[in-house]
Amino acid sequence: MGLHHRFNLIPRNNWDYGLGALFVALAGVRNDAAHAPNVENVFQQKPLWTSSGRTSLYAILKSLELPARSKIGVPLYCCSVVFNAIRQAGLSPRFIDSNTNDGNISIEDLRKKRPELAAVIAVHMFGNPCDMDAVNTVAGAIPVIEDCAQSIFSAYKGKQTGCLSTASFFSFRCGKYISAGEGSAIFCTEPELQKRIERLVNTFENWSTLKMSIHSLLTFVKAALYNRPWYGLIGYPIGRRLDKKLNLTAKEGFEVKKIAPVHLALIDARIGQFQKKISLQREHAQVLLNALAPGSFNLPSESDRCSSNWYQFALRFQNTSQRDAMASFLFAHGIDTAKYLDDIANEARIDYGYNGDCPNAERLAKTVLLVPIHYTLSTRDIDHIVRSINEGSQIIRNAAGH
Ligand SMILES: Cc1ncc(COP(=O)(O)O)c(C=O)c1O
Repeated sequence: MGLHHRFNLIPRNNWDYGLGALFVALAGVRNDAAHAPNVENVFQQKPLWTSSGRTSLYAILKSLELPARSKIGVPLYCCSVVFNAIRQAGLSPRFIDSNTNDGNISIEDLRKKRPELAAVIAVHMFGNPCDMDAVNTVAGAIPVIEDCAQSIFSAYKGKQTGCLSTASFFSFRCGKYISAGEGSAIFCTEPELQKRIERLVNTFENWSTLKMSIHSLLTFVKAALYNRPWYGLIGYPIGRRLDKKLNLTAKEGFEVKKIAPVHLALIDARIGQFQKKISLQREHAQVLLNALAPGSFNLPSESDRCSSNWYQFALRFQNTSQRDAMASFLFAHGIDTAKYLDDIANEARIDYGYNGDCPNAERLAKTVLLVPIHYTLSTRDIDHIVRSINEGSQIIRNAAGH
């Protein structure tokens, strides 16, 4: 790749954490931020707070007080930190297949495995809401937990995700929509369960002033490396090397902590105006949907009953080699993409006892390519992405003899 493309490499993730964010966060230390009135306003209820999505899931699962090693239904096509949280709570993941069209939990497979389950996690993948009526109906008496790490402001039948199940959690880690460093909100519709979660979360460790200040400064530096011009020059090459190491640490346990005032202050400062940014990202998605010529890939879509926040734009290819060819082509044209969850079946087999019964999820892992459409990208960037995908697709189709 030439130096021009290195300087201008469009990152796959959106780490939106500049100087302004750092100031808001550090002001949170000074004010010892403990509440988030804007969040309460958006959700019309008061969340419980922890330091991360995985910690929130751990807290919810622990508070369900299920017998040890009970089986928790979870899509195989899901971030492995979720499997890790299930295990840290003393429970076992039971893997459920996904729909190939939207990447969400397969109702058919859930129905088949339902008798084995003590609870189920519905992940709103890429920001696209699951069919929650069907999930809740099939689940029946067992608790349903919504994983809203990717779905802030997405709605199902006019209701926000996070308000459609027994309990839910959001993630505000950098790279997620509201890049606040870390942080997670829990919502719960059952008062007794809510009290148990609250009691448990109150036992979690607090952040020291020094630790959270250093954390914020490091987040600021990391975010600079995740943005142009430093991403192509430094962030990307370092990221590649760290990927393997991070995968190893993800298997080990994680620290359970309360939310830090630095994170809470930034989440609250951002959430009130955030829908404007989501609208921008939705516009980017629409440009791609209108201008991309499917052929070697399928385009994502939004079902009539849902409104997606378009957190991710997932192209689904006919096979792995075409997906990989597109990733290489786009990279050579200064666009970084993600082969999201590419190794998940292997990881789940080795570390979490996956037995190979989720064929659609395995196929997604090997054929999905996430292309950047972040609200921070310019019209010129989006045009460049559209043109490059269409060019790459033509080359792939020619190579396949179409
Ligand atoms: C679907 C999903 N669930 C849960 C998590 C965990 O959130 P956190 O990184 O805040 O622990 C993530 C992100 O890593 C995710 O993408």
